[in-house]
Amino acid sequence: MLVLGIETTCDETAVAVVRDGQEILSNVIATQEDLQAIYGGVVPELACRRHCEVLLPLVKKALGEKKLSAIDLIAVARGPGLIGALLIGLNFAKALAFSTGIPFVGVNHVEAHLYAAMMGEKPPFPALGIVLSGGHTSLLLIEKLGSYRSIGSTQDDALGEAFDKTAALLGLPYPGGPQIEKWALKGDITRYPFKPGRIKKAPYDFSFSGLKTAVLYAVKGQNGTKRGPTLLSTQEKCDVAASFQHAAFTDVVKKAIHASQKFGARCMVLGGGVTCNRYLRSLLSTATDLPLFWPKEGLSLDNGAMIAGLGYHKYQAQGADPLDLEPQTRIPLGVENEKAHTLCSAHS
Ligand code: KG4
Ligand code: ZN
Repeated sequence: MLVLGIETTCDETAVAVVRDGQEILSNVIATQEDLQAIYGGVVPELACRRHCEVLLPLVKKALGEKKLSAIDLIAVARGPGLIGALLIGLNFAKALAFSTGIPFVGVNHVEAHLYAAMMGEKPPFPALGIVLSGGHTSLLLIEKLGSYRSIGSTQDDALGEAFDKTAALLGLPYPGGPQIEKWALKGDITRYPFKPGRIKKAPYDFSFSGLKTAVLYAVKGQNGTKRGPTLLSTQEKCDVAASFQHAAFTDVVKKAIHASQKFGARCMVLGGGVTCNRYLRSLLSTATDLPLFWPKEGLSLDNGAMIAGLGYHKYQAQGADPLDLEPQTRIPLGVENEKAHTLCSAHS
């Protein structure tokens, strides 16, 4: 079964053709880095206009020599994401489905990030799902594909967002994650005693806003009032990047290991743009003996292949979606209301 996957939840326009949920035949992306570089982040209206311009040419590119009639299913990310951006991808997919008679399904973008690491693999379940992206940071128990229980999530910034904001404070360009990783290579992780937040009675939740404020103080002075460009030396900037990255990832790794033990996870499955980070990969792999499933090359950041891949499984399990499917800017993944403490008592 050939599935066309369409992704427009935020600022990347991405399209892929995937066979039977695992064989990637094409996976093309139009990034908006030129736009983000001007504004230091995503401007939703501009992101939407760019989606409109590039989506159709990108679909043609992803199809290559193939005709649209060769496609058996159209899968699209229906959320979570920016409402305007979601509407463009979803309406495009619906129009394509309506005009060709090809069935279509809407999938959850965050679930697709986790699927990216499972594509073509057979992870043992239950697995601990770790989503680290620009918009989401959460720990989930994956009972099987399509069945998730929420263990913890961020109470404020997503991890990728914290990387982007820290980079901005250091005067580094957007997206900040790869910049921080690069600058951290020459930095001292012990130079700044940054600490991530702890949430009372929610041991698996995250809070990165305090960490961000600590970076602000380190960069701009204790009351954060120094205006203008940062006054740090190049070495100090490297040290801030290294100390921040170490503090953030140590927190994620510690909570992930604790959660995996508490809930009897047999492996860890990671997804989202932050999982590109090599420091995180080495930190986690030295800290646990559990098998780790990372997204393969080109599947960590937003992409169409993860949407097509997950769409295939959703279609097998539930059939097509109706053409009046609505976008959803927020979609809880996993049983809500059943946060860590409930799960803890059930498992202990
Ligand atoms: O998953 P993604 O492409 O989009 C969302 O769904 O949000 O993730 C983008 C995020 C950005 O915040 C970016 O700074 C971060 O992933 N990122 C990284 C790295 N590469 C991208 N964070 C840390 N280290 C990296 N190497
Ligand atoms: Zn994403």
